[in-house]
Amino acid sequence: MAISLLPLLVCALSFLIGSSFGSLAAGRGIGVNYGRLGSNLPPPDRVVSLLKSRNVTRTRVFNPDQDVLRAFEGSGVEVTLGTLNGDLPALASDKSFAAEWVNDNIVPFADSVAFRYITVGNEVIPSELGPAVQNLEEALRSVNLQIPVTTVVATNVLGVSFPPSQGAFSEAAGPIMTSLLAFLASKNTPLLVNVYPYFAYAADPKSFILDYALLNTTKVIVHDGALGYTNLFDAIVDAVYSAMEKVSASSIDIAVSETGWPSGGGPVAATIENARIYNNNVAERVKADVGTPKRPGKFIETYLFALFNENRKPEGTEQNFGLYYPNMTEVYRVDLS
Ligand SMILES: *[C@@H]1O[C@H](CO)[C@@H](O)[C@H](O)[C@H]1NC(C)=O
Ligand SMILES: *[C@@H]1O[C@H](CO)[C@@H](O)[C@H](O)[C@H]1NC(C)=O
Ligand SMILES: *[C@@H]1O[C@H](CO)[C@@H](O)[C@H](O)[C@H]1NC(C)=O
Repeated sequence: MAISLLPLLVCALSFLIGSSFGSLAAGRGIGVNYGRLGSNLPPPDRVVSLLKSRNVTRTRVFNPDQDVLRAFEGSGVEVTLGTLNGDLPALASDKSFAAEWVNDNIVPFADSVAFRYITVGNEVIPSELGPAVQNLEEALRSVNLQIPVTTVVATNVLGVSFPPSQGAFSEAAGPIMTSLLAFLASKNTPLLVNVYPYFAYAADPKSFILDYALLNTTKVIVHDGALGYTNLFDAIVDAVYSAMEKVSASSIDIAVSETGWPSGGGPVAATIENARIYNNNVAERVKADVGTPKRPGKFIETYLFALFNENRKPEGTEQNFGLYYPNMTEVYRVDLS
C-alpha cells in the first residue's frame, strides 16, 4: 500500500470445493488481503485455516510464493495473485518470460487453487503496464487458463479527485490508463483500486468530518450536482468512475483491492475503535450491495487491508492495519462472514 493522498472457472476440483461454500457467499462476501511483510507471521497453512474459520472466501496475495499457494490448494478460498513490480519490464518486453511466469506460478496450482485475478503491478503506472498485462493474459490463454488479468492502482492515478463528478486521471497516468482500460473493457475485467479514506483524512483532518471518513453517518455531507455523498469511500470510488467515463471506459467495474484503517501508529484518528468502526461499516455496505451514488445497488467486490499487523512495513500506521496480531489474536472484531 502506498500512501496515496486524495486531494489532490478454474477446474473441476476447485469448482467442487468452491461450491460447498455456496456461490452466494463467494459472490458477496468481503475479501481480506494476506500481506506477508512480517517477521513473526504464522505459517501459511494456519493462515488458510484462520480464513476458513471466519468464512472468508476471497483473499489477495501480493506475489507468488510456492508455500503460500500450496496452502491454498483445495481450500476453496479464491486467490487474487500479484506479480512483483520488478518483473514488469520483462513481462512487457519478453513473451517467453510471461510464459515462464505462468508455467512456474500458475500451472502447478491451476487444478487446485481458485485464482480470481492475476494483478500485474501494484500501485505503479509505468509505460510497460499495458504490454505486461496483455502478455500475461496471452500466456494464460495459451495454456487454456481463463484467469482475468488486471492491475492494482492507487488513487494517485487521479489528477482531480474532487468533487467526485470531476474525477480525472493525471496527465502522467492518463494515456497509460486509457489504453489499459480499453484492454480491460475488451475482456470485461474490472480495474482494481486501493481506496484509503484514512490517508485523505489524516493528511488534512480539518477539512473532513471524521464520521464521513469512517462511513459512520447517514447524513449527506457532500453535494455534487444531483448526487449526495455520506462518506468518503463512495466519493473516492466515484471519482475513479468519473475518470474512467472521461476516457470512454464507463463499462468497466471497479473492485476495491485494498481498504482499511490503522489501529495505531499515527497521531491522527489511528485508534482500535475507529478501525473497528470503519472496517465493519465497509463490510456491511459491501454485503448490502448499496453501491455508490454513481452506481447505486451495485456490488463492489472489496478486500480489507489487511489480515495481520506487519512489522516489516514502514514504521507508524503502515504497521497497524491488521485485523489480527501476528499471534492470531484479533486486534478488533470485524464481521467477515
Ligand atoms: C460460517 O458459515 C457456517 C455455515 O454457514 C456457519 O454455521 C458459521 O456460523 C459461520 N462462521 C462464522 C464465523 O461466521
Ligand atoms: C459513530 O457513530 C456512533 C453512532 O452514531 C457514535 O456513537 C460514535 O461516536 C461514532 N463514532 C465516531 C468515532 O465518531
Ligand atoms: C497477542 O499479541 C498481542 C499484541 O502483542 C498481545 O497483546 C496479546 O496478549 C497476545 N495474545 C496471546 C494469546 O499471546
